[in-house]
Amino acid sequence: LAAAAAGAQAQDFPGSKPITLVVPFAAGGPTDRVARDLAEAMRKAMGGNASIVVENAAGGPGGLIGANKVAKANPDGHTLLVHHIAMGVFPSLVRNLPFKVETDFEYLGMINDVPMTLIGKPQLPANNYKELISWLQANKGKVNLANAGIASASHLCGMLWQSAVGVDMTTVPYKGTAPAMTDLMGGQVDLLCDQTTNTTSQIEGKKVKAYAVTTAKRLTTPALKDLPTLDEAGQKNFQVTIWHGMYAPKGTPAAVQKKLNDALKVALKDPEFLKKQEGLGAVVVSDKRSDPAEHKKFVQAEIAKWSPVIKAAGVYAD
Ligand code: MLT
Repeated sequence: LAAAAAGAQAQDFPGSKPITLVVPFAAGGPTDRVARDLAEAMRKAMGGNASIVVENAAGGPGGLIGANKVAKANPDGHTLLVHHIAMGVFPSLVRNLPFKVETDFEYLGMINDVPMTLIGKPQLPANNYKELISWLQANKGKVNLANAGIASASHLCGMLWQSAVGVDMTTVPYKGTAPAMTDLMGGQVDLLCDQTTNTTSQIEGKKVKAYAVTTAKRLTTPALKDLPTLDEAGQKNFQVTIWHGMYAPKGTPAAVQKKLNDALKVALKDPEFLKKQEGLGAVVVSDKRSDPAEHKKFVQAEIAKWSPVIKAAGVYAD
């Protein structure tokens, strides 16, 4: 009887109840950007009448509050999580984590990979990476580096970059890199390592100084193609790319999961979605990586990859 009920429920899923994509950071930031672009494409993929809304639930290390909200939500397929690399970092960085990344979520598929850019306030008196390093050396103890809080993507990049350049900076945490960007453009903070989904338009508009991209190869996005890689700029062996995936609470009916993954796969091929993401330097994943099993395997590999890095950095949050 229960199976029949679940089957019936999946049959008419999503029904008239909206699907909520929870974004664990403030509105207007890179995670929010991905979720809103994806919501648009999934709405079309589900026949245009599906109501898909984005809800920002910011706070906690690495967007913990939003992630936990979904882990504890009713597993009916109407509350989903769009999240990034923090899902690979939570197990090693957050003590007393209120959920298990590997078992408290259903994996609905990967979405994209997003490069990061190292940017500075417009008044910063360094006009290339070499001058930035000299400025850092000359201003030890006085440099502020913004991020979206411990375990955020901007924190990870900033932490790795600080140890690579060997200069400790004061970190200023925000509820997301949208508010961080506002303060950077206003000169309240000096530096930010953030995803191209959030920085492309500010770099194009010359609202910030741009020093390098964190990818192995230069980007092709017109506004970013002249940015050197950190490797070219002399900062060897430093690469960070931020990946995003979609998740449902554990126990979401398999037929509902399949419907959501099918819609995701169609959305990832949506020409408008692809154009928007490419225009912001993001790389939408191929079919294989949007398979739930591949998604879970990838996150498990990321958990293993980040664990020694976090332990070596001695960075923890409760
Ligand atoms: C992060 O830095 O982890 C997030 O991308 C911040 C955000 O999405 O606002």
